[in-house]
Amino acid sequence: MKKNNEILKVKNLNVEFPIFGGILQREVSHVHAVKDLSLSVCQGETIGIVGESGSGKSTLGKAILNVLKITAPDVRVTGEILLNDNGSYIDLLKLNRKEIIPYRPQIQMIFQDPFSSLNPRMIVQDIIKEPMDIHTNMNESEKNDKVRWLMEKVGLSGEQAMRYPHEFSGGQRQRIGIARSLATEPKIIIADEPVSALDVSIQAQVINLMMDLQDEFNLTILFIAHDLSVVNHISTEIAVMYLGEAVEYNKTEEIFSNPQHKYTKTLLAAIPQPNPLGREERIKKRKELDL
Ligand SMILES: Nc1ncnc2c1ncn2[C@@H]1O[C@H](COP(=O)(O)OP(=O)(O)OP(=O)(O)O)[C@@H](O)[C@H]1O
Ligand SMILES: [Mg+2]
Repeated sequence: MKKNNEILKVKNLNVEFPIFGGILQREVSHVHAVKDLSLSVCQGETIGIVGESGSGKSTLGKAILNVLKITAPDVRVTGEILLNDNGSYIDLLKLNRKEIIPYRPQIQMIFQDPFSSLNPRMIVQDIIKEPMDIHTNMNESEKNDKVRWLMEKVGLSGEQAMRYPHEFSGGQRQRIGIARSLATEPKIIIADEPVSALDVSIQAQVINLMMDLQDEFNLTILFIAHDLSVVNHISTEIAVMYLGEAVEYNKTEEIFSNPQHKYTKTLLAAIPQPNPLGREERIKKRKELDL
């Protein structure tokens, strides 16, 4: 696909986790979690990353953030992750720990589980402030003002800043996570299943909020989800992952109207229809897809 103003380009990314075994703890095998994956995303747009459990979605997100080595020191990562830095592309994989520091604030993550991703012992003010403590030189009162401003941006009240995460509902906690992700004024947000843990009625509110914030701050979003219905409205493009590979990667309309890969068709067939097919037709469709 030909595009202008790509902010992030992933080229031929491979991620392998070695598996050690035997008394000598030699490498006996490996998990090839991401296979030769390439994609790119333009500033202000959203790419949906969809696939079943274990297909490599979170690994892709963590590779882009360059944080895989923290939990898996032996991981092998090859390829390029190119971030547009005022017109020239920087390969984040080539930077050492020190060199990557200035780029860290530009890419932030929102996690799936708003219950475990927020420290229960910290008040919301400190949770949202933490990335500013790490990445900025702002003084305390500037940071506290910004916390309140961010809370209002995500639909919370600044007066709730002194409360603990357990005092909020699931949807509100995800709003706190979103406020935190915006604290360093990132260009790119990696949202790893941000609504999967929420009630269906709350999911749309959170997705709408993300779309509003995207417009306001010209954010680029990688939106990771299990199923196509979640990413449909927010994504310009969708990459369907299967066993570590992007088996189909196209504009959202094309994915829905003209799916090519069998696995994409399976995902589409799994979306509940407002006008459900009759039983006979459903059985026929499953047979066609060999399910
Ligand atoms: N630190 C690790 N060490 C070893 N293997 C890992 C590690 N992290 C992920 N994997 C493996 O890599 C593969 C992809 O995992 P990943 O978490 O990226 O999938 P996912 O698509 O995010 O799944 P889910 O939808 O369940 O979140 C899996 O087989 C997983 O077991
Ligand atoms: Mg995951």
